[in-house]
Amino acid sequence: MNVIKAKSVEELNKKAAVMIAGQMLEKPDSVLGFATGSSPLGTYAELIRLYQEGTIDFSQVTTFNLDEYVGLGKDHSQSYHYFMKENLFSKVNIKEENTHIPSGVAADATAECRRYEEAIGAAGGVDLQLLGLGRNGHIGFNEPDSIFGKETSVVKLTESTIEANTRFFDSSAEVPKEAISMGIGTIMKARKILLIAYGADKKEAIEKLLSGEVSPQMPASILQLHPQTTIIYAD
Ligand code: F6R
Repeated sequence: MNVIKAKSVEELNKKAAVMIAGQMLEKPDSVLGFATGSSPLGTYAELIRLYQEGTIDFSQVTTFNLDEYVGLGKDHSQSYHYFMKENLFSKVNIKEENTHIPSGVAADATAECRRYEEAIGAAGGVDLQLLGLGRNGHIGFNEPDSIFGKETSVVKLTESTIEANTRFFDSSAEVPKEAISMGIGTIMKARKILLIAYGADKKEAIEKLLSGEVSPQMPASILQLHPQTTIIYAD
């Protein structure tokens, strides 16, 4: 694991964007794995800036997002479809048909999980997966558990995650209780992984992640076993 402590969140955003931009320059038709939430917002803003100044080009890029809430359609303001459109896709020259996010409103959620997992495989797998870190150590929506979840599946969100995500909704009752998420196995298949985390509420999870013990009670800890993982964190 390559661990980088950034001096500030601004520096973290720049370093993360440079790593993603480097992947795109090396392989213009890269398959990128993206995350939502607060953590990647600054990184996406940097990527948009690099695109606007002509440094990077999204025209051949394919993306797969980690997850989507069950029950929220594309146009719901808290859906991850909406988030990606607002914060990145509508601001760069990515082709809409090359962007992939699980559908939260599929009639058969299990079939949707299978379809998503197969689509990642058909695209040749993810070259670089960007991850945030949950306060409880989750990656994607793989919550602490007795085993590491393998493939894309429907997962139940824990109280801690529902509470953390209530800030985006009017009340905790409105936060969906389930999501479709890439599995830990799906994430670990990415050729490179970049996890970013910062802030006081992530301090404990970052410490546990770097402490060395690999346990499904701390889902992100499995990244220690991935040969090409970079962690960039800041206070
Ligand atoms: C989002 C995701 C989650 C978040 C995590 C941290 O697609 O999969 O694992 O990365 O919950 O969220 P923030 O960045 O909002 O603290």
